[in-house]
Amino acid sequence: MKDVKNKASILSAQNVFKSYKISGQKDILAVEDLSLDINEGEFICIVGASGCGKSTLLNMFAGFISPTSGRLLLHGEPIVGIEPRCGMVFQSYALLPWKTVRGNVEFGLKMKGVSPKVRRERAEYFIDLVNLGAFADRYPSELSGGMRQRVTLARIFASDPEVLLMDEPFAALDAMTRQVLQEELLRIHEDQRKTTVFITHNIDEALVLADRIIVLSSRPGRVKAIVKNTLARPRHMTVQLSKEFTELKSEIWSFVEDEVRRHGSVTPEYP
Ligand SMILES: Nc1ncnc2c1ncn2[C@@H]1O[C@H](COP(=O)(O)OP(=O)(O)OP(=O)(O)O)[C@@H](O)[C@H]1O
Ligand SMILES: [Mg+2]
Repeated sequence: MKDVKNKASILSAQNVFKSYKISGQKDILAVEDLSLDINEGEFICIVGASGCGKSTLLNMFAGFISPTSGRLLLHGEPIVGIEPRCGMVFQSYALLPWKTVRGNVEFGLKMKGVSPKVRRERAEYFIDLVNLGAFADRYPSELSGGMRQRVTLARIFASDPEVLLMDEPFAALDAMTRQVLQEELLRIHEDQRKTTVFITHNIDEALVLADRIIVLSSRPGRVKAIVKNTLARPRHMTVQLSKEFTELKSEIWSFVEDEVRRHGSVTPEYP
């Protein structure tokens, strides 16, 4: 297990516990004594068995739910209520069906009171960055799943949150589209260096994207291992063919395997 000592931590979880109350039943402990420091500009991937508390952790960072005990901090200040500086991307696309691609990308900026000229320019820049320039005037219903997820990426980057929280954003896509979007996210991250917390069930995806990979134990979720991704940046998808990639993958898999088996649920995306 390797760790990077925290210098400029932007996001932290300190001894976080989260249990859910279910009427007439014992509380479900989803997250147990979890501590984690995320550095500015870092790309973190969180992997772990289904139901181990990954989304719960992300939702606490976003301020959608609060911990039962412990603290979640942004720039050292407790996160209380929905945190506007954290932008969330979900597995489903959550686009406004009555707005065009451009309208969807501009929407968050409009809500923030950004002038029409500036929001048009920002939207155009990010629509081009995700290669949707030719589709700016189309509606979500006229796009494929992969294109819709690209619109959500353009929208989140255009709205410029300090931290990006992504909950399995590519899980619903076919393998080829997923690979294209990983490539795009990689390129955008290397351009923008935005602090990102990205949940995935896919170890290859984690290794392509992340600076560090956090393996959670099966429920209740605790930090089981932190693996530093030593693959050099800028990265290209062909990094997956390297010996170093295979070695890191088996190291991460060895941590995940125990937990997936212990939990009794095999997640299809793990080998
Ligand atoms: N609102 C809720 N009420 C009750 N229990 C919940 C609630 N949300 C999550 N849980 C439980 O907490 C545990 C962790 O759930 P969570 O959604 O965080 O897991 P996950 O790691 O994101 O799983 P997956 O990989 O399947 O998305 C699970 O046992 C789940 O059933
Ligand atoms: Mg989840």
